[in-house]
Amino acid sequence: MYTSFDDIPLDKIVTLLKSHKKEFLSGQQISTTLGLSRTAIWKYIKKLESLGYKIESKKNSGYRLVTKSDLLLPWEITNGLRTEIIGNKIYYFDTIDSTQNFATELTKKPHENGSIVIARTQTAGRGRLNRKWESPKGGIWLSVLLRSDFDISHVSLFSLATSLALAIAIEKKFKIKPKLKWPNDVTINNKKVAGILIDASIETNKIDYLIAGIGINFKIEPKQVTKKITSKNTARYGITTLIEKDQMSDPANFIQEFLYQLEVIHKKMITGAIKEIRKEWIKRSSTIGKNVKVITPTSTISGKALSIDENGSLLISTKNKIQRVVAGDITYNKN
Ligand code: BTN
Repeated sequence: MYTSFDDIPLDKIVTLLKSHKKEFLSGQQISTTLGLSRTAIWKYIKKLESLGYKIESKKNSGYRLVTKSDLLLPWEITNGLRTEIIGNKIYYFDTIDSTQNFATELTKKPHENGSIVIARTQTAGRGRLNRKWESPKGGIWLSVLLRSDFDISHVSLFSLATSLALAIAIEKKFKIKPKLKWPNDVTINNKKVAGILIDASIETNKIDYLIAGIGINFKIEPKQVTKKITSKNTARYGITTLIEKDQMSDPANFIQEFLYQLEVIHKKMITGAIKEIRKEWIKRSSTIGKNVKVITPTSTISGKALSIDENGSLLISTKNKIQRVVAGDITYNKN
């Protein structure tokens, strides 16, 4: 595990190397600047190389950073992060069962708020409705712990709001316009590129904490994932990747944007700017206006999707009445 608070020497060496990209820095220079022994510097350089940093080392000249790692290491996210709370503490794992589980453990420490947990792969990733979530290398598997102070009736809306924040970040960084499929799928060309899961703990009608789980098929091989998916619904409408295999990318820069957008939207949830969130979600929605079939835990409803209410429930006009759906899976019928 790497963290944004324990691994400060690694962070400092990376920062130093980044600010001297054109020239070699001698071990002695790094050692004097950071107050660490030369042996320690050598060990840290080896560590950084094992984490994917390409560092050129030349006898009598020192070290020079050639390319940075594309892993979402805590210090890569921290440097340049524009948030106040989200990402104050970052925990990074190469492999974990589920980032949601680790974030749940963190809730035992009362000061943990806004902490994020990231993993390169998950062995027991969880999706909505207790489904397994395939989490291969190349994806972004992330949980955000929030001690939110908004009304419990808005918890479901917050999961829609999280997908909205992600769509906005994708728009800003990749110049593409993803769509939102109720309740909280982010899609590109009608295929799922990301999903959101909210674990909530409520005590005496107040939110104790929320853990927003965000799964982004950032740079994956969709076929590999599709063949493992057991959820008929997702398998039917398919999955896609945000970035192609050979496309250059800077995942840390993208996640910084997402965390910023999430914080903006989270603040809106707290100040009650619900109307604005609904409006922005509806604007990007592929669901509203469609004839849909919704499979809920207890029934199947068919009709036209009219809107979402202020709790994030879907309003469907059926033959006799307007029905409000809180949770379920939808498929689109021909209009
Ligand atoms: C969905 O079913 O669409 C929601 C998927 C959420 C997956 C993410 S990946 C990071 C976090 N950890 C998990 O185990 N699940 C969520």
